[in-house]
Amino acid sequence: MNLAVNPELARAETLDKAFYLDAALQRVQHERLFARSWQWLGDLEALQTPGSVAPRDLLSGCLDEPLLLARDAGGALHGLSNVCTHRGKRMLDAPMQAQTQIRCGYHGRRFALDGQMLHAPGFQDALDFPRPCDHLARVPLADWGGHAFTAVAEPLATFEACFGPLQQRLAALPLHSFRHDPASDRDYEFDAHWALYVENYLEGLHIPFVHPGLTAALDLGNYRYEQQAWSNLQLALARPGDLAFDPAPGASEQGQRVAAYYYWVFPNLMLNFYPWGLSLNQVIPISGSGPARTRVRFRSYVWKPELRGQGAGGALDEVELEDEAAVCEVQRGLRSRFYQRGRYAPGHEALVHQFHRLIAQAMA
Ligand code: FES
Ligand SMILES: [Fe+2]
Repeated sequence: MNLAVNPELARAETLDKAFYLDAALQRVQHERLFARSWQWLGDLEALQTPGSVAPRDLLSGCLDEPLLLARDAGGALHGLSNVCTHRGKRMLDAPMQAQTQIRCGYHGRRFALDGQMLHAPGFQDALDFPRPCDHLARVPLADWGGHAFTAVAEPLATFEACFGPLQQRLAALPLHSFRHDPASDRDYEFDAHWALYVENYLEGLHIPFVHPGLTAALDLGNYRYEQQAWSNLQLALARPGDLAFDPAPGASEQGQRVAAYYYWVFPNLMLNFYPWGLSLNQVIPISGSGPARTRVRFRSYVWKPELRGQGAGGALDEVELEDEAAVCEVQRGLRSRFYQRGRYAPGHEALVHQFHRLIAQAMA
């Protein structure tokens, strides 16, 4: 299968449809795209104090990697494997406070909060022990605004290359003080390939056809697309009189009334900044059920509660269901013998083209 995508947008054709249909290719996508990219590991609200530890299963249904976060006595944060190096038990299953060690519940092996093995009952006579791999495996961690990110295999790009452009553009937003609102956590699951959901997110061309409510809240004549190496931005301006950032946090928008910053980071993270705060969406392929099952985790981080439910970031549930219905119909359509690949609308689908080019590069 040839996943190559012509760099010239106006001539290019979309990805080979086998990418969305071939079940054997899904594992490859998990390893090449998801294991090698910076994945959101949740927020750090439970890890404020020294001695706090919390399990985090990375991408359940896809990578299924049991990890844990630990804040040591000196305040340093560590990302570790949550799998005991003895016989492989998954150790922690709930956050804990005031720990100085992590103890495996199976045979009592103990580890420091930086992963170092401290004690292994029954191993007094073991030779060549402990080896470096008897300590807990460590994963790289990045902390942005109280959110943790990790990559469990050699990342395709540095964290700075992926998130630096957003961090700079949104430096004026006090992300650290946004608060998670668990009551609005939503997990959506549907029968469409994860990349169809991402593609749909990356273009505004469908908005007037699929989202009548959202169309009324946006000035679609002033919708802008910007690309960075591993991320991109859709900037939506508010209609006169409608809710907007005040003033816009990005220096380049001074004087413009921004309704929303829709940021996407390769391959599966969406960070939607609205005047009320952040709606974070993590797109996860679910294996074991064919190529076409996806879960999207929606998490809300509130900055100005009094502004929720208004403007572009108002009716998120409704918009989500409209998008899901559209991409599920695409998944069905792709199976048709009459459809092979499509083209990109040059003024509207440059970000879809960028996404496909990044996929082609990472899968090669
Ligand atoms: S599996 Fe952890 S101590 Fe044996
Ligand atoms: Fe949409």
